[in-house]
Amino acid sequence: MKELIIIGNWKSNLTAKESVEWLLEYSNVQKEAVNKKIIVCPPFLFLPILFEHIQKYSLPLLLGAQDISRFNEGAYTGEVNGKQLKEFVKYVLIGHSERRQNFHETDEIVEQKVKLALSLGIIPIVCVSGVNTPIPNNTPIVAYEPIEAIGTGNPQTPEQTEQIASEIKKNNKCLVLYGGSVTSENVHTFTSLPSIDGVLVGGSSLNPIEFSTIGERA
Ligand code: PGA
Repeated sequence: MKELIIIGNWKSNLTAKESVEWLLEYSNVQKEAVNKKIIVCPPFLFLPILFEHIQKYSLPLLLGAQDISRFNEGAYTGEVNGKQLKEFVKYVLIGHSERRQNFHETDEIVEQKVKLALSLGIIPIVCVSGVNTPIPNNTPIVAYEPIEAIGTGNPQTPEQTEQIASEIKKNNKCLVLYGGSVTSENVHTFTSLPSIDGVLVGGSSLNPIEFSTIGERA
């Protein structure tokens, strides 16, 4: 049985207080997840406080970052670098379509970030919108997220998802996740596909009960 990867991407949502409430509520409802890696990607600011809680109460949750600086430490005002992230996370999302659209992140920048994450031992999850998005060498996990499915309530069809995921796997030795309007109602239609190894969940991950149900039904 393949191990599934379930990732919650909070994007720029919640306050520090709400993030701890999320964690407490999640840990109340979460059952032990067999053969599933559950990862939460909060805003940078909440990583230390969530890390502390996860350690203290031995919660079955891993942390990821939503981005990584393409530079190492130094004079880069406003950036959060990989060495800083490594203290708290095992995973990092790179090249999310919202970063490509709103922050002019190019394929070259994505490649730089992937190299840097790999050099530090942080596992990069590269987001692509289709087979035409370049995937940097040695990318271990790809999240296929068609733009029209993100935050719209209109997920991709399982048939098309399988087709694209299998094509990605033909050319790259990587795991492939699906992302775009995943809910507890539709998650299994994606995780049951032969070429899909998990899901990247945005909006539905903000509700701890819904996110936990997604993990259970995946
Ligand atoms: P969504 O977002 O689940 O709200 O569609 C997915 C994503 O952007 O990662």
